[in-house]
Amino acid sequence: MSDSQIVLSGMRSTGKLHLGHLFGTLHNWVELQEKHRCFFFAADWHALTSDYADPSRVTENTIEALADWIAAGIDPEKSVVFVQSMVPEHAELHLILSMITPLGWLERVPTYKDQLREVENRDLNTYGFLGYPVLQTADIILYRANLVPVGEDQASHLELSREITRRFNGLYGDVFPEPRALFTRTPKVPGLDGRKMSKSYDNAINLSDAPAVVRQKCMTMFTDPTRVRKSDPGHPESCNLFEFHKLLSPPDLQERVARDCRAATIGCVEDKKLLAEEIIALLEPIQSRRHELLRERGTLLQLLRDGSARARERAQETMAAVRGALG
Ligand code: TRP
Repeated sequence: MSDSQIVLSGMRSTGKLHLGHLFGTLHNWVELQEKHRCFFFAADWHALTSDYADPSRVTENTIEALADWIAAGIDPEKSVVFVQSMVPEHAELHLILSMITPLGWLERVPTYKDQLREVENRDLNTYGFLGYPVLQTADIILYRANLVPVGEDQASHLELSREITRRFNGLYGDVFPEPRALFTRTPKVPGLDGRKMSKSYDNAINLSDAPAVVRQKCMTMFTDPTRVRKSDPGHPESCNLFEFHKLLSPPDLQERVARDCRAATIGCVEDKKLLAEEIIALLEPIQSRRHELLRERGTLLQLLRDGSARARERAQETMAAVRGALG
């Protein structure tokens, strides 16, 4: 390792991973693990903030997500890969941080009010949902992390984590470094309908989608709305389908498709077929590793137990310092 920065990040285990996770998060993590000491974890307790009424899928989602991470290149030898609930110190530190976090700070987090208003299919008026960023703070500072790679949507959570950390250090002495958000420029990953790719919009191509599913989903993709007939010239620069080509097709294919689309010598259906094959080729090696990992389930679970034990060592060191600081 070239430096002593500690990097930590996590993902809630709420469902299948899709291309948005691959390009938005996992590629970035794979790069970071070459340069820093990295901790990556599945936030299964955080999944309960929204899925508490039916937690039956959380464990399976966790295991499959971790298989996807490893299949996409996260190396459990280089990074510490673990499960939040396998390190109970997260809960202990969360409890202590909850004592010093003013309610007003939590109520002011923009995503809190937005989600309370927007999420209709479940009741988020819970203590746990309000405290989501407190648990997230515990996740981070438990490893005395310096850098937290997250999306821009997490900026307010990170700001709050810094405030809670300063408050702790102010009250009990300097135990924790202040974590900094690491916003990396990641490509925008559109969904099938042109909005951001997201499970909740039902517009995602999952990493586990079989070739037939990828082909069928690509057929439903929104394209240039001004191109009504195949003989109309297309506008790749404003076409959702072309956004995907830019993301994952080789440059020569991008050029060819753009040229033929503008010249109206290729239709959207044909173009979708070309794209589907690119996506299938991209996913093929990931899926074959994923399949192998899930088939050897005992080995995968042991890997997670080992990762969690490594994480726990550091967590226990931190908690010893925390208990010392509180006397
Ligand atoms: N809130 C993050 C998300 O929804 C997941 C998360 C939980 C996390 N704890 C974290 C991210 C700690 C970074 C650090 O994506």
